[in-house]
Amino acid sequence: MNNQGKTGIPESEINQRVEALLAKMSLDEKIGQLNQVSGADFSPGPKAVDVIRKVGAGSVLWLNDPRRFNELQKIAVEESPSGIPLLFALDVIHGYRTIFPIPLAMAASWDPAVAEQSQAVAAREARAAGLHWTFGPMLDIARDARWGRIVEGAGEDPFLGSAMAAAQVRGFQGDDFADPERVLACAKHFAGYGYSDGGRDYDPVYLSEAQLRNVVFPPFQAAIKAGVATFMSAYMDLNNVPATGNRWLMRDVLRNEWGFDGFIVSDAFAVINLVIQGYARDGREAALRALDAGLNMDMASGAYLDNLAGLVNDGSLTMAQIDEMVRPILALKVRMGLFEHPYVDETLLEKVVARPDHRQAARLAAQRSMVLLRNEGGLLPLSKDIQNVAVIGPLADSMEATEGSWMVFNHKPAAVTVLQGIQAKLPGVSVAYAPGPEIHRDIPHPFGEFDSAEKKPPQTAEEAESAYQTALETARGADLVIMVMGETADMAGEFASRGSLDLPGRQEELLKDIHAMGKTIVLVLLNGRPLSIRWAAENVPAILEAWEPGTEGGNAVADILFGDVNPGGKLPVCFPRNGNHAPLYYARNITHLPESSPRYRSRYWDDLPTPLYPFGFGLSYTTFSIDNLKLSAAQVKVGESLTVTADVTNTGKVAGDEVVQLYIHQKWGRDSRPMRELKGFERVTLQPGEAKTVSFQLGPDELGYWSTHAGAWIQEAAAFDLWVGNDSTATLHAEFAVVG
Ligand code: GLC
Repeated sequence: MNNQGKTGIPESEINQRVEALLAKMSLDEKIGQLNQVSGADFSPGPKAVDVIRKVGAGSVLWLNDPRRFNELQKIAVEESPSGIPLLFALDVIHGYRTIFPIPLAMAASWDPAVAEQSQAVAAREARAAGLHWTFGPMLDIARDARWGRIVEGAGEDPFLGSAMAAAQVRGFQGDDFADPERVLACAKHFAGYGYSDGGRDYDPVYLSEAQLRNVVFPPFQAAIKAGVATFMSAYMDLNNVPATGNRWLMRDVLRNEWGFDGFIVSDAFAVINLVIQGYARDGREAALRALDAGLNMDMASGAYLDNLAGLVNDGSLTMAQIDEMVRPILALKVRMGLFEHPYVDETLLEKVVARPDHRQAARLAAQRSMVLLRNEGGLLPLSKDIQNVAVIGPLADSMEATEGSWMVFNHKPAAVTVLQGIQAKLPGVSVAYAPGPEIHRDIPHPFGEFDSAEKKPPQTAEEAESAYQTALETARGADLVIMVMGETADMAGEFASRGSLDLPGRQEELLKDIHAMGKTIVLVLLNGRPLSIRWAAENVPAILEAWEPGTEGGNAVADILFGDVNPGGKLPVCFPRNGNHAPLYYARNITHLPESSPRYRSRYWDDLPTPLYPFGFGLSYTTFSIDNLKLSAAQVKVGESLTVTADVTNTGKVAGDEVVQLYIHQKWGRDSRPMRELKGFERVTLQPGEAKTVSFQLGPDELGYWSTHAGAWIQEAAAFDLWVGNDSTATLHAEFAVVG
């Protein structure tokens, strides 16, 4: 059983309790369990309370209020026909009240422990609020930074993505579904969502089975191995079949091949959307196709509630098919102990969020996720004795931009901003500040309609120009200028794709004008996706990628800028020179005119296609050497493992972290193979002069692949290159062979 929560309840008893429940439930009650009802006022359709009272519901989403949870739970447990408790669910993607770095930033730590610890704190707070289930981790591999939801995943690489997937599931779920400080996790969005054409959110996806199996699926498989309780089907068409009605994905692959025995919830309204996508004639057919394809729970569309009884009564579906979908939902509720403990202590949340270790964990995660992209002349770390410093930029004092996208309902931003973090680091120094002109989306975010917070009217052109001049004046009076730029929280995430990766608004213009004053500039980026900061990359001496770092983000930025912390993060996704180059990624197949060819010039006549910053890149305040590469054998048999070791040494003057990375390339085979693929990494902390030997295993899991030719997983006898280094351009090279 994949869902091996250690509830102490023997499996046989769980099955007995589930069957006993099923035996006494009416068809309507069973269908109620397959329905996730919206608790939000903005949702159409019948009110949650009426549905729950009449037939019960599997779950309630888009509600975030312990008191309301208990009210609805009381109705479910005491007034609904079968008294089955509800699962309360919400998107807790990178923190509930204590906000952690966005998942893309967690991946940039290359430290699964950071992801696990962050999600464990998020789970504790969410559960204390009365939530049982989060719609995370998001596992979509993304190689087109124009796609707004790249912010929610682990970037471009399935090996790093798999490590982060397993770590987040462990963090959310722990190892016991009955643990009152954990929540059910949800591997989403199954599958291929990150490949929407042009990075346009929701657009159709066309992927070969080889791309699905070698790139898209591994993080989902890692989540299953880690015991993930639920999956979420994606919105979009995959090869002309919407994921929410895709039997191959949900039955053939997920259940029959991978043995997943939890349950699958659709994305929001995705069942009834099958009609819009032209995959179903009407709601009845949408419900039939989704259930037949293996979808357990309909998120908020009501299509199951409206149609399943009729489908059973007219013989289109059998009671056995309904029971099959209900079983895993009931089993998880039994495993969680919800029948014995359905209610939340309404005084618990404030005690839990007040835990000092929560903010400490958030600060550590933010410190470990930041990536130093440039540090010409060792400008950083700055001295704490500096005077006359100015902090400038529209995000410098923005709590929203610091906490980032995907906040839970009615979250009140409470982040320490970069300006506040710098001021706290420099007591007694008057830090000048000017935001410059505001930045905002050209097309407002549709979710903004649901946000009850009163909205400031946008700046007028005159106000913006005045703000611009004030920023210039403020910079003029300073010796050192810390520019805090990037994207606002609503510029990445859902409904947040964009055609360009440039700095929005007049940010780059302001940067250039202040640079033209001859000022020393440090650029701090707050953003949810790679940005094409090519002018800054050539002209600004120090650049720190801080992502959307969460509640302690400002303190973590200051910790790094002033040397209390040495940055050790690495990019989980490359930064293209130009947004038009997307999709861009390192693990590409070699062409007949490779970059290594003397005849090679470029793939475009108007630009170089190489990234501004490659996958796996990140600087430090110290230096490292990686050498003494050794292989346990020059060749191994198919099915055997090879051990690769290398020594990493801190050759600088301060302690620091290095991420040692291992890449392989199968030189020939029944399929062409990528020129490099990450197959091992380890982040190590070393004192000055200290050395450590890191060791990696290469076995069938790392050396095998899904072959288009064979239509199956294969491992071949072939020659391999391998490289070990500190980013995807590593040059320390060795070769080995796999023999038949
Ligand atoms: C959204 C997202 C999904 C989220 C769900 C519930 O549209 O696509 O990631 O979990 O709806 O909020």
